[in-house]
Order: sequence, then structure tokens, then C-alpha cells
Amino acid sequence: MADRCVTLNSGHQMPLLGLGCWLAESHEIQGSVEAALEAGYRHIDTAALYMNEEGVGAGIKSYLAKSKKDRKDVFVVTKLPSNAMSPEKVERLLKKSLNNLGLTYIDLFLLHFPIGVKGKSDDDFFPLDENKKLVLDYGTDLIAIWKEMERMVKLSLTKSIGVSNFNVRQMRKICAIAKIPPATNQVEMHVYMQQKELQEFCKANNIYITAYSPLGSPGRTKFMGEPTGSANRMQPLENPVVKLIAERHNVSPAQVLIRYLVQLKVITIPKSTNPARIKSNFDVWGFRLTDLDMAALQSLDMGETGRIMNSTETFDMRSHPECPF
Ligand code: A2P
Repeated sequence: MADRCVTLNSGHQMPLLGLGCWLAESHEIQGSVEAALEAGYRHIDTAALYMNEEGVGAGIKSYLAKSKKDRKDVFVVTKLPSNAMSPEKVERLLKKSLNNLGLTYIDLFLLHFPIGVKGKSDDDFFPLDENKKLVLDYGTDLIAIWKEMERMVKLSLTKSIGVSNFNVRQMRKICAIAKIPPATNQVEMHVYMQQKELQEFCKANNIYITAYSPLGSPGRTKFMGEPTGSANRMQPLENPVVKLIAERHNVSPAQVLIRYLVQLKVITIPKSTNPARIKSNFDVWGFRLTDLDMAALQSLDMGETGRIMNSTETFDMRSHPECPF
């Protein structure tokens, strides 16, 4: 059981495998969260931006009531959205997430993205101008926001804090001033994009990586109507190396992709709303990939070209000084 958790630099334990909730609607996610907790998951990853915190909270509440387990038995992650990337908004938005989730504290609160956008309201996550371009906030001050994140720990509104979609330069910037260093950095990571530089930095600084899109987000060839990096290539789930390793271990390709990351001690959050896939995605503790399997999977890395979530025309953020990609 101990190998299913890691100890964060905050001293808190975090389960290595969690349920990703991106692109799941609030009404469907409640059942998925319950199915996940029943299957043994103890870590649920959501965000204000996913607009499903209420459903996630309802799923947790219902499971805890049925199973007679305690709040502390579930590790909950949520995130500060880009339209709240200014110090004066952090506490209010964290309290809003707590209210949505029906919780009194978050286990891990993340900055969702290093870039701020100028939304007109809390729910205006992707404000677009008349040319259909994202309205960026060029004044994003990561250091001032991080200090406010630290205050959220002192207020006991969250137990740990971290970041998401930060590159190594941005990690260094935060670590240089942090009284409470980020516990995790949640980034896109799968066999095609293995984040070598970030892995090295995080390892050296006692920070865990959380991998989103660990299965390569199959089927996601578009984001907001525009092609993503995976539009013209074979999915990791279809890759012959992955399939061969899966056959050898008598498991599914998805289980190989998940096992690869957790065996590297990368926190992993496959998303599914399908109860059977939720269950099988968690069933990765009964086999171990050999050194040869690990090396073969490592060789699938494409570096930056493996990225799915590339900047699209609408989401061109390259003019922002904190663009992480
Ligand atoms: P579904 O929710 O219908 O199961 P990622 O976590 O890499 O972003 O991938 C999420 C996508 O992968 C979702 O579309 C999800 O669909 C699908 N998915 C999740 N688990 C599996 C699996 N075991 N095999 C195939 N596809 C899966």
C-alpha cells in the first residue's frame, strides 16, 4: 500500500494514482468519482476551470457517507484559474472552490497556468477579443501570487500548494523566493512527451510531477476547434511497443502507460467517466514493468514535438512573458 503514495515536501502523503476530471461534466462526474473511490482511488483531481467541482464534491460526499470513511481518506486537488491570476483574487477563488466542493480544506491547491487572462467574471475563463484571440493579462506577477498561495496554507484552507503547466525557468523563479516550495507541478506527460528537463529539476528539488493526459488523451485531435499536436500521429494506446509490452504482461495498453508513470514515481491522473475503464485504470499494482520494458517506453519520447496541448491560433500565448511552452 505504501508504494501507492508519495510524501510531498509539505510532509503530506499523496496517492500516486488519481482520477482526472477534465472534460467531464458536473452531472456525469458525480457517478465517476463514486465509481473511482469504490474502485480504490483516493485522489481526485479537478479545477475551477473544469466547471465540475460541484459534481466532484457530491461524489466524494456520497462515497464518504456510504463507506463511513473520513474526509482525510480522500486527497482532493483543485486549481486557481487563469482569470484569477492576481494576488487579490486567490483567497476568494479558493473559498469559492471549497464552497463548490462542499469541503473545508483542499489537499493540494495549484496555480492552473502561469499566464493570467482578463476575464470579465469568475466564469469567463477564456475571454476572447473581437478577433477571437485570448485576452492576456501581461501583468501576471508569479511571485506576488505565490506569496498569496503560501498564505492560503497558513489559513489552513489548503494543506499543500503547487503549480501546473510551469516550465523549469518558472519553477526556479518560484523556488528562489518560496518559503513554502511547490509540492508538485502538474504538466502534460506521457510516453511521447516525457518532460526530461523538468523531471531532472523536480527530482533535484524534491518536487513531484503530476502527469495529465497520461494516455495521450486519445481522440483529442482538436482543442477549441483547432488541431492539437496529436492530430496526425498514432495514439500511444495504439503504439506497437506499448501493445507488445501489454501482451507480455497480459494487461491493457492503458495499464502499461499508467504503470510506466507510477513506476517512475510520477503522480498520474488518467481521466475517464466510464466505470469499467475507471476500474481497470486503477488495476496497475499487480504487475511490474521490467527494466527492458521501461527502457523501451522511454525511447518513445518525442520531447516537445510530442506535446498534445500546443498553442492553437486562438490560444496563441507566445507574446506573454510567462508563456511556458
Ligand atoms: P472515457 O472517459 O470515455 O473513458 P487522458 O487521461 O490521457 O487525457 O485520456 C482521457 C481519455 O482517454 C478520455 O477520452 C477517456 O475516455 C479515454 N480513456 C480513459 N481510460 C481509457 C482506457 N483504459 N482505454 C481507452 N481509453 C481510455
